[in-house]
Amino acid sequence: MPYPYVLLSAAVSLDGFLDDTGPERLLLSSRADFDRVDEVRASVDAILVGAGTIRADNPRLLVNSPERRAVRIAEGRSAYPLKVTVSGSGELDPAAHFWHTGGDKAVYTTDKGAARARGLGLAADVVALGPDLDWRALLEHLHDVRGVRRLMVEGGGTVHTQLLRQGLADELQLVLAPLFVGDPDAPRLFGPGGYQGGRLRLLETRAVGDVVLMRYEPTAPGTGRLPSAADRHWLWLACQLAALCPPSRTAFSVGAVVVAADGTELARGHSREGGDPVVHAEEAALAKLDPADPRLPGATVYSSLEPCARRASRPAPCARLILDAGVRRVVTAWREPDTFVTGADGTGLLAANGVDVVVLAEHEKAAQAPNRHLLG
Ligand SMILES: NC(=O)c1ccc[n+]([C@@H]2O[C@H](COP(=O)([O-])OP(=O)(O)OC[C@H]3O[C@@H](n4cnc5c(N)ncnc54)[C@H](OP(=O)(O)O)[C@@H]3O)[C@@H](O)[C@H]2O)c1
Repeated sequence: MPYPYVLLSAAVSLDGFLDDTGPERLLLSSRADFDRVDEVRASVDAILVGAGTIRADNPRLLVNSPERRAVRIAEGRSAYPLKVTVSGSGELDPAAHFWHTGGDKAVYTTDKGAARARGLGLAADVVALGPDLDWRALLEHLHDVRGVRRLMVEGGGTVHTQLLRQGLADELQLVLAPLFVGDPDAPRLFGPGGYQGGRLRLLETRAVGDVVLMRYEPTAPGTGRLPSAADRHWLWLACQLAALCPPSRTAFSVGAVVVAADGTELARGHSREGGDPVVHAEEAALAKLDPADPRLPGATVYSSLEPCARRASRPAPCARLILDAGVRRVVTAWREPDTFVTGADGTGLLAANGVDVVVLAEHEKAAQAPNRHLLG
């Protein structure tokens, strides 16, 4: 199921705190940065905060600029994004600004929390997700039922930590503010636990007044059949690589990337690269790696088209090359049509041999784009 694009937004002190322990909210952003945040809010379909942030900060979470609201309306959107909160307990203050400002509101909670929240008479859609709060179910509901395509998450640390650790964050927008908190009891942005092992990808740095904005993209593939936000990004890259293929009337244009479990790119390739008229994308990428590379069993192969199961041009199809390389996870956008081979089923061959294959059909059109001339 597709999820919204999830953008985590936070400001931290130089010593990594989200707030101090005083009764007032600590203002970390500069005036210019509050305006940047307003611009980001105006660009999204929904803004989410945890119930802890409503209790601590009593935020309004509005698009403050009348011009930005006017643009949203002119585009056929609501003046304000949907406001969303998550609560396990359902213990929410009905007098909080959150409920009395802006547009539509939604509470995602547990069965128990819903019983309590519904008794509060909140002007909000209360959605029970079962005995526990499942973030994937929440994102699916926002996408499918509320039509949310871009979600901005404005904290706090408990919420950010879960979304990042579960591989559900597409982007992190972090602002570093030039002040110290110095109180060990103050809340931190990210709590302890298991994060992706490798480095995130830096997308941008920008000075905004006296703070610095850093935008990062997580890179770690998902595990098993569960997709991560980074899977979508890598598969998108594979689809872009397909556009580099020399044109052909007798073979597909395909891109492939091999990525280690910690998010390190190991190799990439595309069909017919390097003057080889028959090489396939996955074959070209795997050929750049030492077959004894210990990262291969934990790696994911991203291929814009599912790996081939049969081919005339070489003895081994790509599905076999992937199995021989010891790779146990493949993410693809497009199942192979009958254009050249009838009933090709690389996915079936891989799955029958214990490989987890994830098909992200949301990228199918991008995978097909360089092959339109073959599809009739
Ligand atoms: N600097 C910044 O950019 C920034 C932005 C936002 C917030 N903050 C700061 O962050 C602090 C608040 O952070 P926080 O971590 O305490 O709170 P939070 O992340 O805003 O909210 C945590 C609450 O959300 C609910 N929740 C989250 N995940 C859940 C799950 N998986 N299942 C059930 N319920 C879940 C629970 O609500 P229930 O307790 O109702 O069960 C939980 O107590 C405040 O000090 C605030 O000032 C700073």
